[in-house]
Formats: sequence, structure tokens, C-alpha cells
Amino acid sequence: MKLEVFKTANELYNYVADLVVGRIKSKPDLVLGLAAGATPGPLYKKMAEIHRHRGPSFSKIKTFNLDEYVGIDKRHNASFYRFTKEFLFEKTDISPNYSHSLNGQASDFAIECRDYEDQIQKAGGIDLQILGIGQNGHIGFNEPGSPKSSRTRVIELSKETRSKIPKELFTNQNIPEKGVTVGVGTILEAKEIILIAVGEAKSLAIENCFSGVESATWPASYLQSHHNVHIFCNLQAAKGLKNLPVPR
Ligand code: F6R
Repeated sequence: MKLEVFKTANELYNYVADLVVGRIKSKPDLVLGLAAGATPGPLYKKMAEIHRHRGPSFSKIKTFNLDEYVGIDKRHNASFYRFTKEFLFEKTDISPNYSHSLNGQASDFAIECRDYEDQIQKAGGIDLQILGIGQNGHIGFNEPGSPKSSRTRVIELSKETRSKIPKELFTNQNIPEKGVTVGVGTILEAKEIILIAVGEAKSLAIENCFSGVESATWPASYLQSHHNVHIFCNLQAAKGLKNLPVPR
């Protein structure tokens, strides 16, 4: 596990955006796993800026969104598909034919989840998975208690996760009770993983997930056994960790 700490979030995002775009340059048909939410938003913005100003083309990459709320339409304000569409797909030349996402309104989630796993396999597996982290240590919607071997599935959202969902996104509808997510086992099969944490609110999760112990109570802690994982934090998010590297 490689941990890098940055003095500011802006420096972190510049560094990670260059890294991800560099991966696309070296492998134009990169298979990229995409988290949504406040954390990766600035990363996708910067990737789109780099793409616009100096290339490369993203037209051959394949993307797989990590998760979605169950019961909501792709066009809904809170949809993770819509988020990645607005932050990344519409701002680059990523092909709609190559951008995959889980359908939160699937009529049969067993089939939906199995098909998604098959599509990832058919694409050759995820080359690079981008992750944020929940304050309870979730990755994707793999909530505390998720097994290390879990695959893509529907999951009950925890009280804590539901309490963090911005209510204004759900004016005419209740906050979802379930999500559909790529599993921990599926995430761990990615060839490379980048997890980003910014802000003090994430510091307890970072401390519990990356201090050596692996447990289902803090799902991101499973990442410690992955052979190629980079954790990028700003100073606030990393404040609970011992033996911090010199901040960039
Ligand atoms: C969403 C996802 C979640 C988020 C996490 C943090 O696709 O994978 O695990 O990364 O809930 O969310 P933010 O970044 O909004 O704090």
C-alpha cells in the first residue's frame, strides 16, 4: 500500500488527475472504475480540463460506475450515473457505448448484477479503480459487515450512509434504503486502485482502515491486502495516521 499526503486538496487533485490521464496515455483502451460523489468530482473536472487542453483522447477507454441508488432513474438529480455523465462523460469524448453503469431500476437485480460482473470480465477486468471512502469506511456501497469476497449485489444502506445523503436531492421521493454496488471482491480484482480522502470528516475512517488491521467493520481496510493500491489524502484526512510520509 502506498500512502501519499498532500498539503492541500488542490495539489492532491492535480497530482491524481495527471496520474490517471497518464494511465490513459499509456493504455488508450484503459478500463476505468468510477466512484461518484463529492470526492471524485474535482478529479473528474481536472481530468476533463487536461483532456480538453492537451489530450489525450478518452474515446477508447471503457468505464464502469461503481454503484447506484436502488429505485431511482438514471436522470434523477441524485443518480450516480448522472453525476459521472455531467462531470466526465459530457466533458470528454468518452463513448456512451463504452460507459457502463448499474441500473437502479432493474426489474431483476440478480440478472443485473451478474450481467455487470460479466461485462467487467468481458472488458478484461478493471485496470484502474477510483474510490472515495464513507465516514463509516464503506467503499462503493459496501457497508460495514460486507464480506471481503462479496460480488456485485443489492445492499441495505446503513443509517449513517442514509443520513449523509443530501435531502435536497430527494424532494419528491424518500431517501433510498438500498443501493446496488460492485462488491469488495470485485474491487479487489482491479489491477490498480486509487482511494482519495479529503477533509477531517474522513480522518477516523482513514485511521481505522489503514492502520494495519483488516476487518469487516471497516470495509476499506480490505484494500490493505491489495498489491497495487494508492491512498491519497490531504493533511486533514490523514491526521489520525502514524508515521505519515512528508506531505507533498
Ligand atoms: C459513491 C461511492 C461512495 C463514496 C463515499 C464518499 O460512488 O463509491 O463510496 O465514495 O460515500 O462520498 P463523498 O465522496 O461524497 O464523501
